[in-house]
Amino acid sequence: MNEIKLFSPATVANVACGFDVLGFCLDSVGDEMVIRKIDKKGIYITKIEGFDLPYEAELNVAGVSALAMYEAAKPDCGFEIEIYKNIKPGSGIGSSAASAVGSVFGMNELLGSPYTKTQLTEFAVKGEALASKCEHADNLAPALFGGFTLVKSMTPLEILEIPSPDDLFATIIHPQIEVKTSEARAILPKEVSLTNAITQWANFGSLIHALHTSDYSLIQKSLHDVIVEPFRSQLIPHYNDVKTAALKAGALGGGISGSGPSIFTLSKGIESAKKVADSMNDVYSKTGIAFDIHISKINTEGVKII
Ligand code: HSE
Repeated sequence: MNEIKLFSPATVANVACGFDVLGFCLDSVGDEMVIRKIDKKGIYITKIEGFDLPYEAELNVAGVSALAMYEAAKPDCGFEIEIYKNIKPGSGIGSSAASAVGSVFGMNELLGSPYTKTQLTEFAVKGEALASKCEHADNLAPALFGGFTLVKSMTPLEILEIPSPDDLFATIIHPQIEVKTSEARAILPKEVSLTNAITQWANFGSLIHALHTSDYSLIQKSLHDVIVEPFRSQLIPHYNDVKTAALKAGALGGGISGSGPSIFTLSKGIESAKKVADSMNDVYSKTGIAFDIHISKINTEGVKII
């Protein structure tokens, strides 16, 4: 096998109370990539469709993660990468993570799978860091593993797979404005109060328990973020209106997807997720800001060959 085509999914990071550690994988949005093994050594990005991104491997997220793996594996070949980008960079649904994951997943397959998914995440972190100016894996891990993932530690990298309740659906609205992750991180306070920390880790612990036990009512009670949302929500026009409408329409809860501007909600059942989508549509269609809305089951597979 010298060439594979793959689907690299969009992801939602943070999931309200799980800043930088929790994420889940979507199945209705993602990039496609072709990875090809070639005789000439090196990493070459030969095609990019969808968005205007650099072709130089050292300047491209997919290229940087590929180079990190290439330098470790030292294979007797090179790789060409084609990127068919559907996830808009800066949308808050893991655009850079999808690119970073796709290249290393594809190369690993073509080399006979010498690396584990955790090792692939370590390579992909290098690509993600190019985009967000900091190393975090909460989009990368769900893109590679599928489902919900918890980044237990970055050094050494340790990833836990968390079960996804069968009837859990995400509704995501993506306002077509750009929020740069680096800027959304820069506005966060360096210290938090003990009161907020206690609330946040209580919510986070109960969310993990709720996912393990498929307790939708506890998911509802746990999806709160008292630390990051108050700052970042100011970067997203009509954030509170969308969230209020979605909760009224039946969403269990929600928050900022990654660093925004996308807003995610979780619902029990597809019908509820659709009602939430309608409520988001009602709010945003009055704003004059272009947007799109995605409904997705939790994708338990992650990046895959197509
Ligand atoms: N956890 C990261 C952040 C995700 O919120 O900054 C960015 O995609």
